[in-house]
This record gives sequence, C-alpha cells and structure tokens, in this order.
Amino acid sequence: MKVLSVLCALLITVATAKQELSESQYRDAFTDWMISNQKSYSSSEFITRYNIFKTNFDYIEEWNSKGSETVLGLNKMADITNEEYRSLYLGKPFDASSLIGTKEEILFSNKFSSTVDWRKKGAVTHVKNQQSCSGCWSFSATGATEGAHKLANNGTNELVSLSEQNLIDCSTPFGNTGCNGGVITYAFEYIISNGGIDTEKSYPFEGTDGTCRYKSENSGATISSYVNVTFGSESSLESAVNVNPVACSIDASHSSFLFYKSGIYFEPACSRTNLDHGVLVVGYGTENSQSQDSSSEPNHSNYWIAKNSWGINGYILMSKDRDNMCGISTLASFPIV
Ligand SMILES: *[C@@H]1O[C@H](CO)[C@@H](O)[C@H](O)[C@H]1NC(C)=O
Ligand SMILES: *[C@@H]1O[C@H](CO)[C@@H](O)[C@H](O)[C@H]1NC(C)=O
Ligand SMILES: *[C@@H]1O[C@H](CO)[C@@H](O)[C@H](O)[C@H]1NC(C)=O
Repeated sequence: MKVLSVLCALLITVATAKQELSESQYRDAFTDWMISNQKSYSSSEFITRYNIFKTNFDYIEEWNSKGSETVLGLNKMADITNEEYRSLYLGKPFDASSLIGTKEEILFSNKFSSTVDWRKKGAVTHVKNQQSCSGCWSFSATGATEGAHKLANNGTNELVSLSEQNLIDCSTPFGNTGCNGGVITYAFEYIISNGGIDTEKSYPFEGTDGTCRYKSENSGATISSYVNVTFGSESSLESAVNVNPVACSIDASHSSFLFYKSGIYFEPACSRTNLDHGVLVVGYGTENSQSQDSSSEPNHSNYWIAKNSWGINGYILMSKDRDNMCGISTLASFPIV
C-alpha cells in the first residue's frame, strides 16, 4: 500500500491519488485498451506487451496524481517501452549546447499579437501521421514550408500539402538519413537547391526510406532561403511565429510527452539542448488562469501550440516563457518564399 504524503493529503487531488490495481483490474484495463485500439498479439508477445502496459499505466496514474498542469492518458502507444518509443518515433539526439547564447537576439516582427493561431488563417494543413518512421523533421519542414507558401502574396496562395516522402528520399546528400532522423534546416537547404518540393498528393508518405522520385512538374512550392530563430530565445521565436509557422526541434524523449493528453506540457526533466523530435509551432496563447495550480505564476499559463502526430487531435500545448522548456526555441527556423 502506498502511504499518502502529507502534502498530497492537503491537495484536492487526494481522490485521484494512486491506488495499486489488482491483477484482474490491470487485465481488464489492458483488454479494454486492446479492443479500443484494435490490437492483437501472439500468445508469446501478449505477456511482454501486458507487462509494458502495466508499467505505462502506473506511470500515467502516478503522474496524474501529482496535480501537474500536464494531464497524461493511455493512447495507442501504451504497449511500447520508452526505449522503443525513442527508436521508433524520434531521431538521434542532436546536441545543441554549443549554440545557445551565441548570437545576438533577432526579432522578425515588431508586431507581437497576444495570441497567434495560424490554423485560423488557413495556413496549416491537417495533422499528418508520421507512423513508425523517425521522419518528424520532414513533417516540421513541410509544415513550415506549407505555411510560408500560403502566406506569400499577401495570403492569396492556396494551401498546398507538401511531400515528406520527397524530403525523406531526396535530402540524404544534405545530411539527412530518412526514417533514421534528420535536421530541419538540411531539408530547407534541399528544397532551395532542388528548386522545389513535390505535393503530398503526387508523392505520398510511405513511412520507409525509398529512392528519390522528385518530379518538377509535381512541385507544390518553392523557397528562396530560410532564417533561424536566435538560438534559445523565446522572444525571437515569438516574433517569428507572428510571421510564419515555425519548425522547432525539441526534447521529446520523456514518456510524459508520449502520453500527453491535455493541459500545458511541462516536464521538469526536459533538456534544452538534447533535441530528438521536430514539431511545428503554429501559434501561442495563454490559458484562462482560473485553474488552481498555475494561478501564482503567470508564465505557467502561457503555451506554444505545437503540431505533432499525436496529442490533442495531433497538437501539444508546450510551456512557453518557462526558460525555453524542452528547447523549443533552441533550433527553430522557417523558410522564406
Ligand atoms: C493584403 O490583404 C489585406 C486583407 O487580406 C488587405 O487589406 C491589404 O490591402 C492587402 N495588401 C496588399 C498589398 O494587397
Ligand atoms: C541555421 O542553424 C543551423 C543549425 O545550427 C545551421 O546549420 C545553419 O547554417 C543556420 N542557417 C542560417 C541561414 O543561419
Ligand atoms: C516569464 O515571461 C516573461 C515574458 O513574458 C519573461 O521575460 C521571463 O523571463 C519569463 N520567466 C521565465 C522563468 O522564463
């Protein structure tokens, strides 16, 4: 039996504090989860996946019992370990520690709106599914390029969904390694040098590395250059998000990111320099601070809206103005048409 700490007893969260489940309760939870996620296993694999599920279940229950502003929940990835998650979905960590604080801060706009949401301006395509391919870098690169293309010509262009597979198959000479990982700016360099990127429709996502099949007649957008947000500056990132959706690299290695369900994502263990995932920041905002946990610290209600493959319909609200949490502003860039 878990003994409740005195602190915990003082909070209203007592009702949801962690309870050990009986074996049959875990079994029921697992079979319910299997049904709702349409999973089936061979009998030898069942036990392995069941044990992993139990560990993840406990992790989520324990996290949620602590009254964090981040709420976790079981999702379709609840049967994989943290190691499997990192190898299936994330890239090899990129060490950006030497870059932080090396540049003078650049602002890209004088206009700082109190909130930005490019989805409402029709500059963001539907959420795409990266599947079990560590090609997240290609999704943030297409997302930022889709936004730049749409917003060029005073917003009169059409929103065109662009091809991640094109980047995965063709940007290897620029230093990327397809479904084994890549760097967003290398993808921009490929698009510039190639003179375009194909549409999603003509070159759909396959989730594995293939040979380069770019066809200039299917090109959906071009860019002439790109800019970097000042390494590690959230003000620089904020000014950039006023201009365009921004492709950001983050530390997503923690299970809390994998099981994010709602609230503002805050992970005290997150690194600002060890970056293994790409997302697209499409805006920012502030939560109505009626919530009890965050009222004392104003910055705790600020968030970035990050387009991902999973989360709230594919989006994760990431902590903003909390000391560059998870490195959101460490390696961030957007293209110029
Ligand atoms: C750009 O679009 C806005 C509204 O969408 C319009 O008010 C403005 O005049 C346009 N600017 C130019 C240079 O066409
Ligand atoms: C942007 O940052 C990346 C990563 O440090 C670097 O490789 C690239 O040269 C920079 N590009 C520009 C245009 O500043
Ligand atoms: C809180 O936000 C303000 C700007 O909104 C910023 O100047 C300050 O550094 C932030 N505090 C932390 C701890 O990040």
